[in-house]
Formats: sequence, C-alpha cells, structure tokens
Amino acid sequence: MTNERVYIETYGCQMNFADSEVVGSILTGAGYGLAGGVEEADFVLINTCAIRDNAEQRVRHRVRELRALQNRRRGLRIGILGCMAERLQSRLMEEEDNLSFVCGPDAYRRLPELLAQVRGGQKAAEVELSATETYADIEPVRLASNGISAYISIMRGCQNYCAYCVVPYTRGRERSRDPQTVVDEARSLFERGYREVTLLGQNVNSYRCGDTGFPELMERVAQIDPRLRVRFATSHPKDLGDRLLEVMARHANICRCIHLPVQSGSDRMLKLMNRKYTVEWYLDRVESIRRHLPGCSITTDVIAGFCTETEEDHQATLELFRRVRYDYAYMFKYSLREGTYAARHMADDIDEAEKTRRLNEIIALQGQIALENNQHEVGREYEVLVEGESHRSKERLFGRNSQNKVIVFDRGDAVAGTYRRVKVESCTAATLLGTLTD
Ligand code: SAH
Ligand code: SF4
Ligand code: F3S
Repeated sequence: MTNERVYIETYGCQMNFADSEVVGSILTGAGYGLAGGVEEADFVLINTCAIRDNAEQRVRHRVRELRALQNRRRGLRIGILGCMAERLQSRLMEEEDNLSFVCGPDAYRRLPELLAQVRGGQKAAEVELSATETYADIEPVRLASNGISAYISIMRGCQNYCAYCVVPYTRGRERSRDPQTVVDEARSLFERGYREVTLLGQNVNSYRCGDTGFPELMERVAQIDPRLRVRFATSHPKDLGDRLLEVMARHANICRCIHLPVQSGSDRMLKLMNRKYTVEWYLDRVESIRRHLPGCSITTDVIAGFCTETEEDHQATLELFRRVRYDYAYMFKYSLREGTYAARHMADDIDEAEKTRRLNEIIALQGQIALENNQHEVGREYEVLVEGESHRSKERLFGRNSQNKVIVFDRGDAVAGTYRRVKVESCTAATLLGTLTD
C-alpha cells in the first residue's frame, strides 16, 4: 500500500481516454490515490498520441513544461503511456531525460510494478504488445465523466495497415472483447444513472467474438433499456454492412450518427492509402445509410496532401464533400510517420504550403456545408439528452440530439441527465439554439 497519488493526463483519440480510465482503475486497485491535478501528484502519467507529428510535439512540449514543477518538487515522477510510448520506447526517456518510465497500451496491468521500480530509483520501460489483452475484466474508473455518458472499449488494435497510419504499430493486432463483459459494463453504467454509452474501436465493424459480430453486439446493448443511448466509433467504410443499418433502424436509441472516415475523394489516392474501397463503394454506403436511416448524420476524417496527391485528386475530395454534405469533418494535413508503408515506399512530396492550401480549401467548404446543414435544422424539434450548463451562460443548458448535434437552450426546469424536447430556432456552423417545448 502507498499513500502516493497519480495524475493522468490524456491526449489523442477516444480510445486513449477510455484507456486512461482503465489505468486509473489498475492504479487505485494497487492503492494509489487519484490527484486532482499535477500540483498534488507524486506521479504524472501522460497518455499520448502518435498519429501526427504535431500530436507528438504537443506532448514533448508538455513534458518539458513539467520540468519546472519537478525542480520545485524533487519527488515528482513523470511517465509516458500510450502510442508514443509504444512507438519510441526507451528512446523517449533518452530524449526527454526527466521521464522515469514508458508503458505501452497493452502493458497497463504492469504499471503497479513499474511504479514500484521507479520509486526504488530506477527507470523502467514496458512496451510489449499483446495478441489477447482487452482489459475485459477491469471496471474503468470514470475519470472525466459527467455521470451521463461514458466510453466502452470493445476491441483493441488495428491491422488494416492504411499506408499513412501508425496505429497498427502502436496498438498491435486487432482483438475483440468478450461481448458479455461489454453488455454488463453498459448495464452497470445505466443502473448508475448513465444515459449514453459510446462503443469504441479503430474499426468497430470488424468486431467479432465467436458468433457475435458488431450488429449483434449493438443489438444486445440497445436492448438494455430504450432510455440508454448507444453510439459507436469508428466505422471503416469497407466493412460497414447493411445488417448494422438494419439493427440501427430497429432501435431508436442507437444514435443516428455515423462517423465514416473517407480520407480522400480520389480512387487513385484511396488505392495508394490501402483503404480497400473506391469512391463508388463509399457513396453506395452513404446512400444505404440514408435509405435505412433517414435524417442520419454522417461525419468523416480526411487527409490533405498525401504522397503524390495532384490538384485533380484534391478537387475530387472537394467534389465528394459537396456530394455527401457531412455534418462534421476532422481535417488533417498528411504527416509522415516513421515505419509506415508510406514512409518506407513513398515520397512525402507535397510541400507544406501546398498541403496547407488544400487543407484550408477543404475546411472552408466544409464550414459552408455545416452551416447550410444547420440552417435546415431550424424549425425542427428534437429529443435532447441534457448534459449540463452552456459554456457561455449559466442561464442556458446544452444537450445533444441523436445526430450528435449540440443544442443550446434556456434552462427552464430542465436538469442534466434527462431527455427533453427542444425546438431549433437558430444556428451557427457549430451549434443549434433552441427552446424547450415540453
Ligand atoms: N481508425 C480510424 C481512424 C483512426 S486515426 C479509421 O480508420 O478511420 C484518426 C484519423 O487520423 C484518420 O482517420 C486519418 O484521417 C488521420 N490520420 C491518420 N494517420 C495520419 C497521418 N499520418 N497524417 C495525417 N492524418 C492522419
Ligand atoms: Fe489507421 Fe487505417 Fe487502422 Fe484506421 S483503419 S487505425 S486509419 S490503419
Ligand atoms: Fe493517437 Fe493512438 Fe489514438 S496514435 S489516435 S492515441 S490509437
């Protein structure tokens, strides 16, 4: 036992946030307390992302910033978890010499031993990947939770090997978690008052455990209670089948929002990226979503300036955006990642200024589309899960509709964690403004 405290800081994707909650559970189970901030912590654990160079630079900047705190508090130890730990391993401790340990995403059960070694004055690295670890038996501590919505990790790893992507190297082989443990975790959350769960995986559509595929798993979670909203991320277009859409259509509590990363609107780029679908296939999936689930929101990820991308390829991406009319998009410049197929076999030949120009064009177009989509929402009424106070005003609350759009409204008698009906009165590109109607 120890009375020392850990503070976990998280960067990167939703899966990292879910992992931090597993780490929190492992360490509190080993007797550590959770600190409210770095100031009160004996150990700061930074859960990191390696997806693009700027994600890594942010973390390195943070590690250097924490040095000042270490100078004031000699006992403070800092360690790196997650994808940067896996990618860079003990090299990272040589480059950033105020780090005491690195621990990769499949090694979190060993953290208590690792911290013990560090307390004994050693540096420690644990970066072994696993073909089987899913942390299925660990009940995560809900670290940043509002008590209303929670993430549930249903699988780990990825072996799609998209040419640009580091995830297969940082997260290891794909493996699915036992479905009963997923259902039990969702039920337990519902019983504790949670009203929304998001099932997470790099490609949830390839979830499989025995006879249970993703549509079956979704159906089981949706059946827990109609008052429990179920979301999921991320879908890979190559694997998004109609069976899932049919299950969604049968259950109103499975949210009408599908994140379907396209990456590029050019078949030539998609082939070079090893995405294993064409634009035609992608548009067929979009059409099928719209047929099965009228009013379903579709969001995406896109990369500007991947290797050899021409102006024509770029124009094809813009054209695809005009056709699909996404409600939201995460838009990135291509960032070379060491060890990936693209880094080994292709030249990063689009210069930075050109990448920026293309990205800005996509951002401008998408901003316009999002605004127009929101303008169409004015006059519609939605069921909203109330989440809390609006950041701008205490007199207003915000919630989300099934499509995952944020709606801000005058608070009236509404309380967080309940469902209310809200009519949309006006909008910006990012937010809908409405009034309670029930
Ligand atoms: N598993 C998800 C995405 C995970 S990473 C999927 O397959 O869609 C999130 C997003 O980061 C990706 O969709 C991609 O758009 C972007 N991304 C990944 N590697 C990148 C790189 N090297 N440079 C720029 N963006 C990248
Ligand atoms: Fe990366 Fe592709 Fe796997 Fe997504 S599906 S995590 S982009 S390799
Ligand atoms: Fe980043 Fe790792 Fe997620 S690289 S996007 S934290 S899987």
